[in-house]
Parts: sequence; C-alpha cells; structure tokens
Amino acid sequence: MENYKMYINGEWISGKKENSIKVYNPATGELIAYVPNGGEKETKEAITAAYEALPRWADLPANVRSNYLKKVYQLMIERQEEIAQLMTFEQGKPLKEALGEVFYAAGFVDWYAEEAKRIYGETIPAWSPNKRILAIKQPVGVVAAITPWNFPAAMITRKIAPALAAGCTVVLKPASQTPLTAIKLCQLFEEAGIPKGVVNLVTGSAQVIGNTIMEDKRVRKVTFTGSTEVGKKLMEQSAKTVKNISLELGGHAPLIVFEDANLDKAVEEALASKLRNCGQTCIASNRFYVQESIKEEFIGKLKNRLKDFIVGDGMKEGVLIGPVIDKNSYDKIQQHIKDAIEQGAKLEFGGKSYHNGISQQGGYFVEPTLLSNVRKGMTVAKEETFGPVLPVISFKTEEEAIEMANDTDYGLAAYFFTESLSRSIRVAEKLEFGIIGVNDGRTSTPQAPFGGYKESGIGREGGHFGIEGFLEIKHISIEL
Ligand code: SIN
Repeated sequence: MENYKMYINGEWISGKKENSIKVYNPATGELIAYVPNGGEKETKEAITAAYEALPRWADLPANVRSNYLKKVYQLMIERQEEIAQLMTFEQGKPLKEALGEVFYAAGFVDWYAEEAKRIYGETIPAWSPNKRILAIKQPVGVVAAITPWNFPAAMITRKIAPALAAGCTVVLKPASQTPLTAIKLCQLFEEAGIPKGVVNLVTGSAQVIGNTIMEDKRVRKVTFTGSTEVGKKLMEQSAKTVKNISLELGGHAPLIVFEDANLDKAVEEALASKLRNCGQTCIASNRFYVQESIKEEFIGKLKNRLKDFIVGDGMKEGVLIGPVIDKNSYDKIQQHIKDAIEQGAKLEFGGKSYHNGISQQGGYFVEPTLLSNVRKGMTVAKEETFGPVLPVISFKTEEEAIEMANDTDYGLAAYFFTESLSRSIRVAEKLEFGIIGVNDGRTSTPQAPFGGYKESGIGREGGHFGIEGFLEIKHISIEL
C-alpha cells in the first residue's frame, strides 16, 4: 500500500500515518491508499507558495505558459492507461470510461494551452482628443480549486488549465474519496517543469482546508464543483474578503421526448446521458418527460436496451456500470426508488441493488432502474438522484413539458428530442438551463461553455468563456 504525499511549493510532503486519510476502492471496499490529512498549517503554506510564485508566473510571456501546458497535455496522453487505472481504482467508473475521462481532461489542457495566447485587451475610442483608453486583462491572482469525486481528472484540468493559462497560481483541494488521480496530475505538472509554487495540492478535511482558504485574503478566486449546499456556504464565506467565485453545482436535468422524435436515437442518447458514470454526473438526465402517444413504445425500447448494461467492478471487461461511490449515495438512491414505488410508480426494469464489498466503505451496486407512472410529488421527480434511475413522467403538450422541465430551482442541463427544426429552436430558447442537448445526450466537450442557471451555479467553465473567470479587467486611461 502506497503512502501518497501532498505537493506544496515544489516539495512532496508526507503526513503522519496515524493521522492520514484512507482511500477505498468503491468496487470492493478494500483500503487502497493513505493520503495526508493536511490542515490549516499545510493549507497556509500552500497559499504562501502560490502567492510567492504568482508574480513570476504571471509575468511569463503567454507562449511560455502555453508551452508548459502543452507538455502537461503530452504527458497525460502518454500516461493515459496509468491515469485511467488509478481513476477506476479509486472512483469505480469502468476502465473504458476512465480512459474517456483522461482524454476529456487532457482536452482542457490542450484547449487552454492555445487560449493562453489569446487573452486580448481592447482600445476604446475616447471622447477627448487628448485621451487614450485601454482595457487590459490580468490574472485574478491566487486561485483555490475545490474539486469533486465524480470526475477526478476532468474537473481539475477544467479549472487549473485556464487558471495557469491566465497567469494565476493554484491551490488544489481534491475530494477525499479520489485524491490519487489529483496527485498523479500534480506529478505530471512537476514533470512538465512548471515552476515550484505554481500548482500546490493539499489533501485532507474539506471543512478545515475550505475554511482556511476562505479566510485568507491572498486567495482571490475560488472555483468549486460540488453540491449546491456547499456552494451556498462558500458563497457566504467569500463575502468576507470579496473573493471572485465560480460555482458548478447540482442539477436536476429534464429529458423530454416529443412524439415527433427519432425514438431509437432518443433512447441511445438518453442512456448515454443517464448512465455515464453510473448516473453520478451533475448533468445526468434525472427526469424523463415522454409525450403520452409514444410513452409505451419509448419504455419498451429502453427496457430492451437496459439489459445490455452489465453492472460490476469497473476493472472487469464488459462492465458498463460501476459501483456507486459510497453507502450514503447507495442509501439515497434506494430511498428514491422506494418512495416512488410506495407512491404508485411502476417498476419496469431493474430495481435490484447489492453490497458485496469487504467493508462498509465500498462495493455498493445499483442496477439501472426504470420507473413509469412517476408523478410530480415523488422524490425522484423533485431531487437529484445521482444514480442510475430513470423515472418516466408523461405529458400531453409542448407547453406542459416546458413548464414541468422549468419547475425546479436547478438550471444546469436539459435535453429534448424532436425532428422539428422550429420546435428545436423554440424549446431550446424557453428552457431555463445553461446547457441544452437537442437530440444530443453527450454535450460535454472542452471547447463549449459548461455551467448553470439558478441554483446550479455561477460562471462558466470550458471554451473561451472558461478563462474569463481567472482574469481581471483593468482600465488604463492616458492623458496625452
Ligand atoms: C459534473 O458532473 O460535474 C461534470 C460533468 C461533465 O463535465 O460532463
């Protein structure tokens, strides 16, 4: 068993073993690693390192920062197998999916290596002949990136790559369930020659590290992916030192199938959106609105395909659905299914779940579960399940579908299926969500903006939009 270390100011720092955090394989419940339980002291040291490294990193020409990122990208591609295996080991997703995530994650590094060179300012016509007005963009400063367990690589690079491209330095706090991929990525940052202090990694309690970050004036930007509950707390805490904050929070994505849809395509895309990462994504379709006239046919086709989704240890060949991350997650999914059935939903497929781990720390599996006759008041229709459950609700008219889809405090992603061009545009414009998939259940890609309306967050990651949150705009007024 390896004892992993934190990365602070270019040094690998061990913690005391008795005080370390245990990492488990969610497919088996086996203890696979120890990582240090960094606290206030280590977090402050990481912030100091990032703060001291900032001026030199920010002053580098953009093409030099770009070249560092290109090197990281190359290393990620070279080590894809190694990173993917580590990811499956600590997070549970099937190996093929983990490999897909490595490419997705590397894509952000590649994209922002280019974007580093395009941080343009403006000259603005002045109203006086003796004035010249410039607007330039500069790095916001030290960034704290707090990342989740569901995408242990991509959520890190989606934050760190634009931060580094913009000239910021970083303190990374990865989720305690999946620190090993984060540590691997920091090894690659080091191998790429990124100067000491530019990227720092602290593992440990989210509360202690989070509070230290939020109290520290030197941290100018916090970028967080995780629950809406924690996001709101960070937003409150950020007020004290008026930190710039980006939040990518929970979702409750509707997926609407209109009667003029290509049903085979709708089924495939619905499965892709729902079952990716065992339903553990913020953009997973969470409630399926199907027009009454095609409901039975759609359910029949879904049932037929769900048989192909083999559940098991993600390291095993042919497995398409891995374990859920932990017992809490498992219990919540069970509760959602139970509540729906007790209130009259019909179990069309699945519903079985089991624990086969050697400890209570892992080995929780849930079959993909299809429910029909779902109604508005049921928990599955109101809350994010974060598991492989497909609740189907029927509707009669387009207006009704839009109203039900928008009836939520969340606004991250929404999907719909139709073969009508005018309906595509009309519905896409009316849905109150930051990401819309039209006949498309796989919307995530490094070059597009990712983020939500309402309580799903603030700001956008990805694409050229994703670097803006790491930049300040400075107005320079010159009197000739
Ligand atoms: C998330 O679930 O937070 C991210 C999903 C994605 O990037 O596709």
